[in-house]
Amino acid sequence: MRILGIETSCDETAASVLERVGDRIHVRSHVVHSQVATHRKTHGVVPEVAAREHVQKLPGVIDLALSRASTTLRSLDLIAVTEGPGLITSLLVGTETAKSLAFLSGVPVVGVNHLEGHLLSGLMNRPLRFPILGLIVSGGHTELVLVRSIGTYDHIGRTRDDAAGEAFDKVAVLLNLGYPGGPIVSALAARGNRRAIPFPRPMIDSPDYDFSFSGLKTAVRYHVADRVPTGRALADLAASFEEAVVDVVVTKAVRAARHYRVRGVALGGGVSANKRLRSVLRRRIRSEIGPIDVFQPPMRFTGDNATMIALVTALRYAKPPQSQWRSLTANPSLALTDDGEGVRVPRR
Ligand code: KG4
Ligand code: ZN
Repeated sequence: MRILGIETSCDETAASVLERVGDRIHVRSHVVHSQVATHRKTHGVVPEVAAREHVQKLPGVIDLALSRASTTLRSLDLIAVTEGPGLITSLLVGTETAKSLAFLSGVPVVGVNHLEGHLLSGLMNRPLRFPILGLIVSGGHTELVLVRSIGTYDHIGRTRDDAAGEAFDKVAVLLNLGYPGGPIVSALAARGNRRAIPFPRPMIDSPDYDFSFSGLKTAVRYHVADRVPTGRALADLAASFEEAVVDVVVTKAVRAARHYRVRGVALGGGVSANKRLRSVLRRRIRSEIGPIDVFQPPMRFTGDNATMIALVTALRYAKPPQSQWRSLTANPSLALTDDGEGVRVPRR
């Protein structure tokens, strides 16, 4: 089964071709056009601007993904497109393009939940033992999800305010470091002392699996007051902030993994590129739980990309499902527990 994935939920315009042969999945092409240079000027994404850039870039990105995979539209078996959550104007560019391509070619099209893409991004060609605890950390989401099987998810925790990536981005603005903040703050942090400033660990001891990061951002703001440090002190601040985020996220994930007796933990989302998060998560799972599986996406699948979108369908379906081209529509607030066919899976 040859699948074209399309992703335009926020500020990356992406297309990939995946092929499922038996139970093996092969990445035939992986194309991502990043809009970072455009959004740097405004220190964040302006939805209208992002949508316009998707309109300009998506045809070329899809064309490149097909030609790198040495395939054509009509030789595809399935088109998988992000239907939500995300920015409505950005999502619409992807869903409407996918529907048009499906209509013209007769290839079936299905909508994919962006969060399910992040959730499964580390699971390609790995033996899977369920249940698995999913830890999604991105610019828009920080979520703990119990994966009972591919497609059956229980939400067990989420952020009550800012997402982890959002906290990195906002702290970067406070420190005049530029956009997006995550990679810049974490590069600085690598040279700093993680114990220099005892920033708070919000909700680390709360009896639920929810998160909160806005208080941590405020603590950084008070610490900086009206003078942003430089040199060594700046690196120490970045390292201390990063450590607070990593500590909270990993502590809660380990506690949930133990409580639900999972057989693996799957990390995903833009913040899963964070090296400190990856190493602390792996180390603490080993020492506090034992030899369960730890799934971490390859670096190129951490940020938004279309391989993870095609991967969701490659893992869900052995053969092409029924086309949704009449019903498919962008849904900016799609939840992970609304499955692809629009059926709610309410369990908690
Ligand atoms: O998943 P993603 O590409 O987009 C969303 O779906 O939100 O995540 C982007 C987020 C941004 O907030 C960015 O600052 C953060 O991921 N990020 C990082 C790192 N690389 C990207 N945060 C911390 N450390 C990193 N190395
Ligand atoms: Zn994302």
